[in-house]
Amino acid sequence: MKAALLGHGTIGVGVDRIAAALPEIDIVRVLALETDDEILGRHTYDADDILNDPEIDTVIEVMGGIHPAWEFLSRAMEAGKNVVTANKAVVAAYYRELVALSLEKKVAFRCTAAVGGGIPWLVNLSREKQGDCITKIGGIMNGTTNYILSKMDHEGADFSEALKEAQRLGYAEKDPSADIDGDDVRRKLAISASIAFDGFADENDVPTAGIRSCLSEDLSFAHERHSVLKLAAFASRKELGISAFVSPVLVPESSLLSSVPGNLNLVTLTAEHAGELSFAGQGAGRFPTAKNVILDLLDIEAGNGAFYAPETQPLAIKNDSELLPWYFRTESPEGIPEDVVEAREGRRLITKPISVFQAFSLLENIQKSDSAAFMAGILS
Ligand code: HSE
Repeated sequence: MKAALLGHGTIGVGVDRIAAALPEIDIVRVLALETDDEILGRHTYDADDILNDPEIDTVIEVMGGIHPAWEFLSRAMEAGKNVVTANKAVVAAYYRELVALSLEKKVAFRCTAAVGGGIPWLVNLSREKQGDCITKIGGIMNGTTNYILSKMDHEGADFSEALKEAQRLGYAEKDPSADIDGDDVRRKLAISASIAFDGFADENDVPTAGIRSCLSEDLSFAHERHSVLKLAAFASRKELGISAFVSPVLVPESSLLSSVPGNLNLVTLTAEHAGELSFAGQGAGRFPTAKNVILDLLDIEAGNGAFYAPETQPLAIKNDSELLPWYFRTESPEGIPEDVVEAREGRRLITKPISVFQAFSLLENIQKSDSAAFMAGILS
């Protein structure tokens, strides 16, 4: 294939270097903000040099962000080019449009690296749907936050030091707020749920809490309960629509999720026939993520470039039937009504089992007077 790269940052460089050893993938043009020896003779500042070049059959978008990524991807498809992207922000925002364009123009559209970094999660999720019914998906889907929580927990590191190190290692998004506030996970969950549950899960409907205000006392609280604190995402099929949410959770020390260290991710699907299947590996970083982009390209070259699931009718997201106890740490505990409180200890409290919807409503309420309030679901 004659391919072009849009972006030559952490992932783009990785894709270019792996592809250099593969005769199937010839990267002939590279759109980048700066030129260097590696792309000399192939570099351009102008996306038109790629999008208007009939010799280029495949466009690889690894720039990140929504604009102009959407404009470039849609123009590439309009021009009959296959597209591969690692960019979850643009896929979550333009999911329906991208799937529709790929069907209309009969071009390949793959984004395996957009969810789970180097883990072949989306390809296996779509494969497992065949002859089966996926009922649940979820797990740890962000390398940066798992790295930060692991470093705080095991090494007593400070939040901001751990974040800086995650940025240095190439795990974090350009704006790491997307990682620590859970937006990155929300996008990955929305894409995964859309594929798993045959429709379009709108990321804007997924309640999301991150780890920005996590303190070492929250990690200690988890330990007191023989648990570990993780940022996780869950979605499940319901009679009408789905439930879906992103939140810190306390997971028992004996659980699979508790043993996921560093930048690793672990995602699990539950299907009626297959039961539980878990996929673990590096959820972020140059070469693991680039490797998934390369596998998408090789799949396209082998004629397997169709998107994972063609259905895009909207899925209703409702979180009123999932009941869990929740941990809150807040300077405004009076914002949590007594009838839902199971136990209090200073500014920390545990609720009785309440719905995800109610927990997020309580958090929203207490955040009005305590923006540093922290909440985590308690899993058994
Ligand atoms: N910032 C993301 C993460 C990159 O840390 O997981 C991989 O999607």
